Amino acid sequence: LDRFVLWMILVLLYVCFSAAPATLCKVCNIFKKGKCLQGEGNCTVEEGAGCRTTDMYFFHVRDEWRYNYTQLDCSDTCRAWKLIRGSLKVSIFCCKGQDFCNMYRGKSLRWTAQ
Ligand SMILES: *[C@@H]1O[C@H](CO)[C@@H](O)[C@H](O)[C@H]1NC(C)=O
Ligand SMILES: *[C@@H]1O[C@H](CO)[C@@H](O)[C@H](O)[C@H]1NC(C)=O
Repeated sequence: LDRFVLWMILVLLYVCFSAAPATLCKVCNIFKKGKCLQGEGNCTVEEGAGCRTTDMYFFHVRDEWRYNYTQLDCSDTCRAWKLIRGSLKVSIFCCKGQDFCNMYRGKSLRWTAQ
């Protein structure tokens, strides 16, 4: 009986550890209109981290911020934020729990229907 209890505990521990979901994220240096133009790959994140989507804008006199392209990768700190440095604006989104979810955040949302 003792051996059976021990075995059950081991099984429970195993289930708990493998239940921590690792999310697969898309990696891309230049992602535009739903397609990766440069530097395609995958990365995985454990709990706490997330898949990151970084939209790049540049300043344009006429329409202010103009969208240029998106970068996709994995991030240790999963949070959304914005940054303006000189004539470059960066808009960051983060997601987890769904494989390749970072392909469908920010500006890329517009091209999911294709
Ligand atoms: C990324 O993962 C997908 C799904 O597992 C796989 O089909 C694809 O070949 C991988 N791409 C790279 C560059 O490893
Ligand atoms: C926009 O992105 C391209 C890469 O796709 C880059 O070569 C170009 O310099 C960028 N334009 C601006 C104004 O930042």
